[in-house]
Amino acid sequence: MTQHILSSALLLSAASFCLTACHNAGDPLTFAHQGDTLTVVHVAHEAKYVILPVQEDQPETQVMLGDVPMDVRLARDKVDYTVPFPLRDGADSLIVRGLPANALAWQEMALADTFDTANRETFRPLYHHTPAYGWMNDANGLVYKDGEYHLYFQYNPYGSVWGNMHWGHSVSRDLVHWQHLPAAIERDTMGHIFSGSCVVDSRNSAQTGKDNIIAFYTSHKGTTPGHQRQQQCMAYSTDNGRTFTKYEANPVLTAFDGLENFRDPKVFWYAPEEKWVMIVSADKNMRFYESRDLKQWEYLSEWGEGYGPQPNQFECPDFVQLPVDGDEKRQKWVMIVNINPGFAFGGSGTMYFTGDFDGRRFTPDTAPNVTKWLDWGKDHYATVCYSNTPGRTIAMPWMSNWQYANLTPSKGQFRSANALPRELKLYTAADGQLLLSAAPVAELEALRGEARQLGDFTLGEKKVEAVGKDGAFELVFTLQPSAKGRSGVEICNVQGEKTLVYFDAEQQRIVMDRAESGITDFGNRVEPHHLDTEASRKATVDGTLHYVNDFAHATFAPVEQQAEGHEVRIFIDRSSIELFVDGGRVAMTNLVFPTRPYDSLRFFSDGEARVTGGVVYSVKL
Ligand code: FRU
Repeated sequence: MTQHILSSALLLSAASFCLTACHNAGDPLTFAHQGDTLTVVHVAHEAKYVILPVQEDQPETQVMLGDVPMDVRLARDKVDYTVPFPLRDGADSLIVRGLPANALAWQEMALADTFDTANRETFRPLYHHTPAYGWMNDANGLVYKDGEYHLYFQYNPYGSVWGNMHWGHSVSRDLVHWQHLPAAIERDTMGHIFSGSCVVDSRNSAQTGKDNIIAFYTSHKGTTPGHQRQQQCMAYSTDNGRTFTKYEANPVLTAFDGLENFRDPKVFWYAPEEKWVMIVSADKNMRFYESRDLKQWEYLSEWGEGYGPQPNQFECPDFVQLPVDGDEKRQKWVMIVNINPGFAFGGSGTMYFTGDFDGRRFTPDTAPNVTKWLDWGKDHYATVCYSNTPGRTIAMPWMSNWQYANLTPSKGQFRSANALPRELKLYTAADGQLLLSAAPVAELEALRGEARQLGDFTLGEKKVEAVGKDGAFELVFTLQPSAKGRSGVEICNVQGEKTLVYFDAEQQRIVMDRAESGITDFGNRVEPHHLDTEASRKATVDGTLHYVNDFAHATFAPVEQQAEGHEVRIFIDRSSIELFVDGGRVAMTNLVFPTRPYDSLRFFSDGEARVTGGVVYSVKL
């Protein structure tokens, strides 16, 4: 309603200035340009969408139907790709701000009832979750209910770079096959819909209806530091998570000290006191709040300043209770803290702290300088866990890094995927530390198609060709590494592009090296790192440890020696490699962009290494 009034008012004012129709009468779309800054787009007949042409390196323009402008990089002289802009409630006009009258977009806009989402991206994974189109970052509101795993995510439906944050939505019954659904929560007048969590309100605490899914997210307004506002909001769904109604008295929580970086609410039920607890990342801290009705929140405590690498910025908290070594009587709380920057290999990464929680306060087991990484690759971020999965803790990462997430090679139809869902378990390491393992969920074995047996062999060297199909396969083997130098496998293509995964006996670590993995020149900052592997030295300038970019180098993790060898699982899916060692005691997730799909393996060793039980599985979708 408001939108019609507003549109007609602007139409009238446009007409009284200089009305220039770019198309002939009878055209489905006509444009009334009012100078360079405002155009009224008139829609001649009913249609579902206006198809908008996008040029990614151009400035944002505002496209408006109703009172929420969406930022779209409309094409000025070249069309990179198109996005559909829904014409809700039979709307007959749109407003566009900030696009000159001579821009190419005016000629390329079209009306349509369908939008073609058939894949045109060679780097789009085959079995990892991606949205049908558009940009994605963090996983949000992960919740299991009535046989469905809901995956909401930070989503821009109007481009393949960050912007217009909505909660996109997909569901799965098995964590393997995903169905795309319409965005569940859209950007609104309070701002972008930033990250958050969902609970199933089985006690009807919020009085919206028993068993409703309740979402908590951050409303974010403003773009420049010093002028941002982040407040926590609530929305509820009465149709199993398909659509949400925003709570009329939002926000439910603002920062008592006006803190700008105050976001990503994680809500969980604390059974000993029959109350809800919310954790909000507050700059370099996590703040705890409690509530009985999910609407009124009281401050409890804060924890975190000085913990982990410095400087950092805390984001996307999660907090889970897990048995130690499978012993249900020994429970520990684990605080998952995503930080950006501060990751061991640059940019964003996920760390965690084990400790105790008394319902008010978190007390970690370790000193501030002890950092434990959940994943040792560069492309594992904003990782949070499913709620309402008793007996299991399932984490879902976003598979990218803020250093280059907006720059990865893509034709623009999509940008970024989720890494594989992992089950988290707490175990006691040989040195007594409490650590998390992150193993691919058992459901993923359903993806195993044809098994090609590689058998047992001693290295030397062994080549295996024509593996997988379309650059997607799983490689499994047990490795007894060589006592000296490196032993492992090169995953490669005919172009000579390769990613190396190897044990380094001298350093007692496992390395994944993507310095020569394919396209690597988009992570374009020069930054000193502390890495020291052969291939990453190759990527240095003048022999000093300065890397040519943030992408072309190796990541590594310490490994405990095992007399019986190491169990290795590697998932390759076109543009990603995920490595799991010894049941997830090491997890390492890295993106790669080979110009031809990887289809060959070369096992190698500097000494004598032995592989047993080698198998390559093709992917069965
Ligand atoms: C983490 C993050 C969150 C924020 C969201 C915005 O990647 O910065 O803190 O809610 O992304 O899209």
